[in-house]
Amino acid sequence: MKKIFITTPIFYVNDSPHIGHAYTTIICDALAKFYRLDDYEVLFTTGTDEHGLKVEKAAKKDNTDPKVFVDKVSENFINLSKRLKISNTDFVRTTEKRHQNAAKNFWKLLNDKNQIYLSKYEGWYSVRDEAFYQEKELNKKGERFYTNDGEEVQWIEEESFFFKLSEWGEKLLKYFEENPDFILPVSRKNEVISFVKSGLKDLSISRTSFNWGIKIDGSENHIMYVWIDALVNYLTSIDFPKTSKDQFLFWKNCYHIIGKDILKFHAVYWPAMLMAAEIPLPKKIFAHGWWTNEGKKISKSVGNVIDPHAMIDKFGLDQLRHFLLREVTLGQDGDFSEHSFKTRINADLSNNLGNLIQRTLKFVGKNFENKMPFDLQEPKNKDLLSEVYNLFPKVKISMEKFKINKSIEEIFIIITKLNQFMDKAEPWNSFKTNPQKTANDLSVLIESFRIIGILLQPFIPDASNEILNILNIEKKYRKFKFLNFMYKINKDHCIKETKPLFPKYD
Ligand code: MSP
Repeated sequence: MKKIFITTPIFYVNDSPHIGHAYTTIICDALAKFYRLDDYEVLFTTGTDEHGLKVEKAAKKDNTDPKVFVDKVSENFINLSKRLKISNTDFVRTTEKRHQNAAKNFWKLLNDKNQIYLSKYEGWYSVRDEAFYQEKELNKKGERFYTNDGEEVQWIEEESFFFKLSEWGEKLLKYFEENPDFILPVSRKNEVISFVKSGLKDLSISRTSFNWGIKIDGSENHIMYVWIDALVNYLTSIDFPKTSKDQFLFWKNCYHIIGKDILKFHAVYWPAMLMAAEIPLPKKIFAHGWWTNEGKKISKSVGNVIDPHAMIDKFGLDQLRHFLLREVTLGQDGDFSEHSFKTRINADLSNNLGNLIQRTLKFVGKNFENKMPFDLQEPKNKDLLSEVYNLFPKVKISMEKFKINKSIEEIFIIITKLNQFMDKAEPWNSFKTNPQKTANDLSVLIESFRIIGILLQPFIPDASNEILNILNIEKKYRKFKFLNFMYKINKDHCIKETKPLFPKYD
């Protein structure tokens, strides 16, 4: 069986989950579901990033012991995964024993390969990004320095272990050239290439001025830099350092899905460290864009955070998934507004898909006793049904290129065509004059719903499940390999009573 490993970033537990966290997770879930339906064995991990200064500060502010604090906040992320009905196979918390073990072993591997040395770090640090900055990357206002996001950085001076990142620039560039699809989209790859070309400095990978982290064996006053700790989570899930041969096959086809803000860590630091540790690199790193709210950056201080739970309460899970996945091209930024949200879900889900299924199946219920009316003949090249059967290869090509919105668009183009077909067929009229034709037309529609229902499972799982339940398609026949004429719905197959799938919003 083909194998694939899909990862979300692990989320900082300094705050409640918001739409950005839900976005990354939903993208990964859609990919995971897609590949499972295509008969891949899928590992899909997510989790929480629980160490570091930022989390320590949040715990202090909450007047809580850090461990008690992270236990409480990570619960919010676990609950969000449940609410989003995410199909993850693991949830890694960096405070878990198995993770600490993986991180310490990873460090040891780098150390054994002479990639780590002790020195002193003097420079700028952003607590929000948990990142070191060179002065040339910052903006100066008066005596203070700020990141491009306007976050003030602080000057730190402390003893630190360093990773010999500067040795890996050329090798990274060679790897990027030989593996052109390693970093996607291409625009992001180009950013990474220019960052590497501008010169890499050795990376400070331990801190001594606070305690909340994984201690370095033999140098207990040092804790591991939170980004090294966090990146290793991907290996934790495959039981590093005791990764089996089978788990290793997943690793070789691992896709890291991340936001554009954390590209440098995943596409520069992580591959360099993996190369240094002589561990093969994951297959792909895809950086998605960011959502704004009515044109404004989403931030707690502005008070415009979008709570995914509230969105699901108000509009439903499939509606949220459909909007986030369909509205923007993966990789580009998107703007959220209640107006664009309602416009999208009304147009696609209520008016197009929901209406089509509702009016067709109601008619079949009333006039054909809820049974498949006709035994379909294999469609000819130009028939609408043959176009429907040809959807899957198109959807698959787009998915393999991470063009999720294009995949969904392809399906909805066909849904629009099916609505037009229904309008033209006018079963309510033809039924009296030509019942044979009506039976055939309705059967084309019903069989098309089976195909669409199967194809929509990665994107709107609840509604597609409902469609397939109404069509009375057995669970074991809902995989992509059944998307062909051979598995068509036969005449007299019983269909269940239809019900409205998507409410309409004013
Ligand atoms: N803990 C690190 C990741 C470590 S992975 C080894 C981290 N966590 S985070 O909680 O700050 O962000 C997690 C993800 O949420 C990132 O991929 C980030 O891009 C994404 N988003 C946060 N806000 C977002 C938007 N407004 N829009 C889209 N995604 C955004 O970074």
